Amino acid sequence: MKLQEGIEKELDALRVQKRFRTLPEMGRRSGAAVGSGGGMLLNLSSNDYLGIGDEGQLRDEYLQAFNPECDADEFSMSSSSSRLLTGNHRAYGELEEYLASWYGRDGALVFNSGYHANIGILPALSSRHDLILCDKLNHASIIDGCRIAEAAFRRYRHLDYDHLEAMLSESRGKYRQVFIVTESVFSMDGDLADLRKLCKLRERYGAFLIVDEAHGAGTFGDTGQGLCEAAGVVDSVDVLVGTFGKAFASYGAYGIMDGMVRDYLVNTMRSLIFTTALPPIMLGWSMRVLEKQRSMMKERQHLQNLAKRFRNALKRSGITVNGESHIVPAITGENRKAVLAAAALREAGFLALPVRPPTVPEKTARIRFSLRADICWDDIAAIPEILHAVS
Ligand SMILES: Cc1ncc(COP(=O)(O)O)c(C=O)c1O
Repeated sequence: MKLQEGIEKELDALRVQKRFRTLPEMGRRSGAAVGSGGGMLLNLSSNDYLGIGDEGQLRDEYLQAFNPECDADEFSMSSSSSRLLTGNHRAYGELEEYLASWYGRDGALVFNSGYHANIGILPALSSRHDLILCDKLNHASIIDGCRIAEAAFRRYRHLDYDHLEAMLSESRGKYRQVFIVTESVFSMDGDLADLRKLCKLRERYGAFLIVDEAHGAGTFGDTGQGLCEAAGVVDSVDVLVGTFGKAFASYGAYGIMDGMVRDYLVNTMRSLIFTTALPPIMLGWSMRVLEKQRSMMKERQHLQNLAKRFRNALKRSGITVNGESHIVPAITGENRKAVLAAAALREAGFLALPVRPPTVPEKTARIRFSLRADICWDDIAAIPEILHAVS
């Protein structure tokens, strides 16, 4: 079959299965509302969990500093080169020093995105003499990193640490190093890794633990470091990955680690070395947001309280709901039902998009609600009834 014919056939199949994706056209953003299809909708599909990105004041303050007298270099829109050539603007050093001191570790490294981080760290650190053990529901970027790495790679059942321990026990003495990789707050189910348990397993089996805090950073922990902070294990994690593009309302990512690991990644991590560095204007903004969000404990508490109430209300309406965080997936099972539910929500003024396989396992299509700290109960109180009516 010719390539074009094959593509056409696959696209047709996606349409039939209600899995055909298009890039939605998004309009103006105003606080928690976003323009879509000619109207303004409450945005429950963004990862701006603290509402920082859509809150104008901080952004205005940052941009006001950009005036004819300012040091234009600080606001440069491009770094025009890899970090190892001329792209390593001093804003990188400032941000990494800030991150290392905040987490109380000696190494921090900023990456272009969480995707760059996850496809680069494991392939750089592991070799063909190693084994990677990966939670079955880890994000696609982590899976891609495992696939690129030369190490053997196995998946343990989601959050099943007995299964993980059996794998660790079985692999004893067979590998140079075993790596464990997990998300902290799972992006599609909103459930939480038991980080204390994972740290105990790391200790017991001499494993190297990588925790992706993409959805935990900013939303958990007294100062917003993430679920590792809340669980008191920041010092026991070998590499903690955080992203700037979600609660921190910026773009990019970071890793927290020991200095030697940092040096090694600088020398070997292909997705750090062979890509253009982030623009200084973005690095400066990330720094601003980090400083601002540290004191947003009230917002973090409000977010989790809101999630608890919303989850309970959905359950009372007979909706199947997973997880225990600000990510609230209402499971519809069938793709068609997820699409219908999203349409009914849109009609009522909510933007809450359906998530379907292959992003989530087969028969577990869902509406993934990303709650945010800049809304209150009254804003979302109508949703359980709407979902009940279409279920
Ligand atoms: C768990 C997890 N890790 C990594 C990423 C990728 O981060 P980024 O959007 O910065 O590339 C995502 C993004 O959706 C994610 O959910």
